[in-house]
Amino acid sequence: MMQKDNNIIINGNLNINLLLNSVKKPDLNTDDEELFWDDPHIAQQMLEAHLNPNWDAASYNHKTIEQIVEWQTKYLNLKKGAKILDLGCGPGLYCTRFSRYGLNVTGMDYSHNSIDYARKYADTNSLDIRYICQDYITMDYTHEFDAIFLIYCDLGALSDNRRDLLLEKIYKALKPGGTFVFDVFTRFNWEQLPLRNWYMSESGFWKPNPHLVLEQTFDFEVENILLRQYTILDDKGAITTYHLRDHYYSKQNILQLMKKYGYQVQDVWSDLTGKNYEEKTKCLGVAATK
Ligand SMILES: C[S@@+](CC[C@H](N)C(=O)[O-])C[C@H]1O[C@@H](n2cnc3c(N)ncnc32)[C@H](O)[C@@H]1O
Repeated sequence: MMQKDNNIIINGNLNINLLLNSVKKPDLNTDDEELFWDDPHIAQQMLEAHLNPNWDAASYNHKTIEQIVEWQTKYLNLKKGAKILDLGCGPGLYCTRFSRYGLNVTGMDYSHNSIDYARKYADTNSLDIRYICQDYITMDYTHEFDAIFLIYCDLGALSDNRRDLLLEKIYKALKPGGTFVFDVFTRFNWEQLPLRNWYMSESGFWKPNPHLVLEQTFDFEVENILLRQYTILDDKGAITTYHLRDHYYSKQNILQLMKKYGYQVQDVWSDLTGKNYEEKTKCLGVAATK
């Protein structure tokens, strides 16, 4: 989908068709995730959500993050100096903790806001972490890392083309025997579908000024994709539409996908803390080796 940044008032008249069009079912090939990640107000809201230790929005809560880092360091047998890459590292919640285990850490994210925060935090706390502000789809490493992480179900947020490209790049970037660790949602994450919701806010996640939010979830069942569409009408009459994609997977889907790109799946859990796989799990944690 394209950005809809149009004004609902034209020459003093209400252009209701603009609103009507902005709430229609979008095209599945809509690939506009940057629109969401690039918005400075949303970026600041995301940073606050990451840094709130108790929220499971934007990142897992900080207690869960500690458990993931502890479990994965042991499970992957990562010794001091092992080289790891955290893709979509945000403000460095995982990088910071992996670095405290003595690992050689690189974090990559295309949010300037998050990377600026992460760099400052590392400087202040004398942590030797390399942070790179870059779209991870454009990375180009060969046999460089012992482990690569992509956490908070971010693989499912990518279009299939970008996901496939990323899987190839991660494979190339791993040392032989290195492991790719990631999580994805399953269909059981959504109890009720389709979802529709609206609310008004004086100031909130989407805009600093008063706005109306029309939220819809479109179910593309054949493709196993949910497209969440947020139509925002602000106090200046501007309409902006954002899409967030959730490609959900079964264990079988993951095994097939990993095989296609040459990985060997070592383990599938119900989350990245190593919780045993259960059939109706809402999430899958995966470790796949090169
Ligand atoms: C939901 S957040 C999760 C952050 C972190 N993994 C965590 O769990 O705390 C997704 C992060 O991925 C970043 N991101 C999304 N797509 C990206 C891309 N193509 N290249 C680099 N970073 C990306 C966003 O800027 C955001 O910081």
